[in-house]
Amino acid sequence: MDNMQANGNALESAKQQEIIEELSKQYALEEEKTGKKKTYHIVTFGCQMNSRDSEKISGILKQIGYEETDSEDADFILYNTCTVRENANNKVYGHLGYVGKLKEKNPDMLIAICGCMMQEPQAVERIKEKYKFVDIIFGTHNIFKLAELLRTRLLSDRVVIDLWKDTDMIVEDLPSDRKYSFKAGVNIMYGCNNFCSYCIVPYVRGRERSRNPEDIIAEIKDLASDGVVEVMLLGQNVNSYGKNLEKPMTFAMLLREIEKIDGIERIRFMTSHPKDLSQELIDVMKDSKKICKHLHLPLQSGSTRLLKIMNRRYTKEGYLDLVDRIRTAIPDISLTTDIIVGFPGETEEDFQETLDVVEKACYESAFTFLYSKRTGTPAAAMENQVEESVAKERFDRLLKLVKKCSAKAAGKDQNTVQKVLVEEINTQNPNLLTGRLSNNLLVHFKGDESLIGKIVDVYLEESKGFYYMGKLMEQ
Ligand code: SAH
Ligand code: SF4
Ligand code: F3S
Repeated sequence: MDNMQANGNALESAKQQEIIEELSKQYALEEEKTGKKKTYHIVTFGCQMNSRDSEKISGILKQIGYEETDSEDADFILYNTCTVRENANNKVYGHLGYVGKLKEKNPDMLIAICGCMMQEPQAVERIKEKYKFVDIIFGTHNIFKLAELLRTRLLSDRVVIDLWKDTDMIVEDLPSDRKYSFKAGVNIMYGCNNFCSYCIVPYVRGRERSRNPEDIIAEIKDLASDGVVEVMLLGQNVNSYGKNLEKPMTFAMLLREIEKIDGIERIRFMTSHPKDLSQELIDVMKDSKKICKHLHLPLQSGSTRLLKIMNRRYTKEGYLDLVDRIRTAIPDISLTTDIIVGFPGETEEDFQETLDVVEKACYESAFTFLYSKRTGTPAAAMENQVEESVAKERFDRLLKLVKKCSAKAAGKDQNTVQKVLVEEINTQNPNLLTGRLSNNLLVHFKGDESLIGKIVDVYLEESKGFYYMGKLMEQ
C-alpha cells in the first residue's frame, strides 16, 4: 500500500466515524423519547472471516446506540452470508422467508443482507425480486460503510444497495465488538488469488491484500493489553502473507514478530495452503513457545490428476512429503484437513488416492464436503459432473475412514497434564468448564467460573474420542 492509499483509507475511516457520531446523537434522542434502546441481531454464516466481519458490524452498531439481542425479532436484523456451497445459500433464503413475516407485524424493522453471497449478481437479483422487504444490501468490501448505508436508508424509503466488485482498500481503526474477552481473530490478509477451479471465494472476496505488519502488531498489542491471551490469525491462504507488501515479508517472519508480544500466550492461524507452506514456517513452529500444536492443511483430493484440474498446484507425493516433514519436526502436532468428494471427473481410482492419503496422513480430524457446483467457477462448466448417488456413496466411505483415523489419533495425550485455555461453562453440564488444548481438542473438567480466560494445567483423565474428560491440577 502506498502513502496516498494509506491517507485515503485514514480519511475514509474518519468520515465513517463522523457518521457514527451523528447517528449516535440521533439514536440517543430517540431513546430518551421512547425509553428504550433499539436492538440488533446478526446471523452469521460461513467461515471465520465472516465471524470476524460480524464483530466489526457489531462494533459499529453498538457505537451508534444499538443493543444486541439474541432473537431475530429485532429492530435491525442482519444476515452475513456465505456462498461457498449451495446449502449455505439455501439457509439464507429460509431465514428471509421467516423474517419477512416478522416484518409484516413490525414494519419499522430494518433488514440487511451482506457478505459473500451478495457479491454474486444472481443472488442479489433474486433478493431484489422475491424479498422486496430487504432494506440494505452490501458486500464483503464495504462493511466499514455500514453507518453511512444505514443513514441513507433512514433518509429515504428505498432499498439501499452498495456493492463493490473488488477493492484495494483496507480501512483500519473502526470499532469492533469481540465475542470473547480472552481470544480474538485478527485478519492478516483479505481475498484470495488462488482460483482453485471449484471455489467461489476469489470471486466474492476479491484479490489478495496483506495488511501492513505494523498495523497487525499494533492491533495484537492492543488486544494483549485488553486481556487477550490467544490470537487466531486469519486469511484464506496465510502462507502467502506479505507477498504484495511494499517491503515483502513472509508469514514465518510475521509469526516471529507476534511471538515477541507480551501477554499473548497462544497463536493460531487459518488457513494454510500446502503449496505455500515453507520449511521456514515449519522451523518457526518447531521453535515457538506460543504457536499452537495444530495445523489445518486442506487436502481437497489425494489424486494428483484431480489436484491439477482443481488448480491446487501440489501433488499427492508433495503433500505427503510435507506432512512427513511436519510430523517429524513437531511430533505432537495435530493435523486437520478439508476434503471434497465428487469433483467433476472423479473416478473410483482418484477416490482411492484420497483414501490412501487420509490413511497415511493420519488426520486428527477432517471436514468432508460433497462437491457443490458454483456458477462462474471453471469446474461448474466441466461436463463430467459426478452423479449424486456415486458421490454420496464415496462420501460415506470417506467419513468412515476419517472416523477410524481420528479415533486412533484421539487419546494420544490421555494420562498427561496439558495447558488448557478455559473458554466457557460447559453448555450441557453447568458444573463443568470447557477448555481447549493447544492441539485444538476440547477438555471438560470441574472448576470455578472465575477461571474462564485463564490458561490452567489439566490432567487428561479419559479420552472420549473427540474430547477429553479431565481434572484441574492444583494451580
Ligand atoms: N482458503 C481455504 C478454504 C476456504 S473454503 C483453503 O484453501 O484451504 C473452505 C473449504 O470449503 C475448502 O477447503 C473446500 O474443502 C470447501 N469448498 C470450497 N469450495 C467448494 C465447493 N464448490 N464444493 C464443496 N466444497 C467446497
Ligand atoms: Fe478457495 Fe482455493 Fe482460495 Fe482456498 S485457496 S479460498 S479453496 S480458491
Ligand atoms: Fe463462505 Fe465467504 Fe467464508 S463464501 S467460507 S463466508 S469467505
